[in-house]
Amino acid sequence: MIFKKHAPLRGEITVPGDKSISHRAVMFGALAEGTTEITNFLQGADCLSTIHCFRMLGIDIENTPERILIHGKGLHGLSAPADTLDTGNSGTTTRLISGILAGQPFSCTLNGDASIQSRPMKRIMEPLSQMGADIVSLKDNGCAPLRICGSHLHGIHYSSPVASAQVKSCILLAGLYADAPTSVTEPQLSRNHTELMLAGFGADVQSHGTTATILPEPVLSGMKITVPGDISSAAYFIAAGLMIPGSEILIRNVGINPTRDGILRVVRDMGGDVTVLNEKVSGGEPVADLLVKHSALHGTDIGGGIIPTLIDELPVIAVLACMAEGTTVIRDAQELKVKESDRIAVMTENLTAMGAHVTATDDGMIIEGGHPLHGAVIDSHLDHRIAMSFAVAALAADGETEITGADCVRISYPDFYETLKALMG
Ligand code: S3P
Repeated sequence: MIFKKHAPLRGEITVPGDKSISHRAVMFGALAEGTTEITNFLQGADCLSTIHCFRMLGIDIENTPERILIHGKGLHGLSAPADTLDTGNSGTTTRLISGILAGQPFSCTLNGDASIQSRPMKRIMEPLSQMGADIVSLKDNGCAPLRICGSHLHGIHYSSPVASAQVKSCILLAGLYADAPTSVTEPQLSRNHTELMLAGFGADVQSHGTTATILPEPVLSGMKITVPGDISSAAYFIAAGLMIPGSEILIRNVGINPTRDGILRVVRDMGGDVTVLNEKVSGGEPVADLLVKHSALHGTDIGGGIIPTLIDELPVIAVLACMAEGTTVIRDAQELKVKESDRIAVMTENLTAMGAHVTATDDGMIIEGGHPLHGAVIDSHLDHRIAMSFAVAALAADGETEITGADCVRISYPDFYETLKALMG
């Protein structure tokens, strides 16, 4: 797909439903008794993988453009799948469902695409094994395909070496089936949608600082969930609006949960003009409209506890840093190496191809802003967040930019290019 320089971007948009929340609504709805109705569900390929897996586990799910209906069968209502569960490109599906499957009275095999087959699963195999689960990597390389034979699980306290909501959620979900309370402490607080939503369904989940604790065997009851807009999808338009002269974009109904809003704090530190309007709480999650105006930006230092709150936004923040005066340092972000692609290597390689001054480090990047970007051929590595970040970079670059594998945006934002076009007027 070819992109050209464009100025300005103006208008009002909504972004699709939050990916993390959409996955969880399907999973927890399946484990609840009665019907769960989800509106503003993200119809992205990752969330469709979750629907596909739960249908294979015997759950009746109606998917229409207006709403999703999950006919839950309770904590013990899943049945053995006839075939391997295909989790596609989705790390959230793979890791969270593993926690649920560890406590079932049947065995099954999970597998995904080439990216999933290279992402680390030891981080869930280790704590699940401590709980008594029988989970093996079939190629013995710590990755999918995984074979999980449901077992009797014990409650544990797990100190996670990584701040990962997927790891935390996997353990808490296994904890639903354990014989005693289960808790997880993380080095920094990761997104807390599992804790908030499971409590909404009726589970006893307590959070104290970076520790979350769940009690086993709750009765979960079906509920209505309206999914807020995904701040990780809004991030591309926040960056584009700030970077491109003359731009003004109003993004309606964006989730601004404090475990996800790091990008707002960082762009403000960089001198970005983003106003939060009409704050309200919807389905237990804070949401707001974001008004973004073009701004003169300067470099900043990003590291420590803020990293988990903007981990998926770092690729587009790196693009923004190229347009800012001065140096931006991103550190403590080694997790970027094990996302859908190695995002430190792929961002550095592609930004350098466009004329940016970027140095990859072990745990992030050093970006010297203020060097004009030019068009280039960009390899998305089939990573949706890379493709969208470079579509934004291309709007500020001289000449033409070609992005290969650009349709991978269907993973999290199927209408991304249409929305971008609408803002071009
Ligand atoms: C997610 C958690 C994060 C994030 C991913 C979605 C979730 O991954 O990068 O896109 O829904 O729990 P990690 O848990 O690996 O940090």
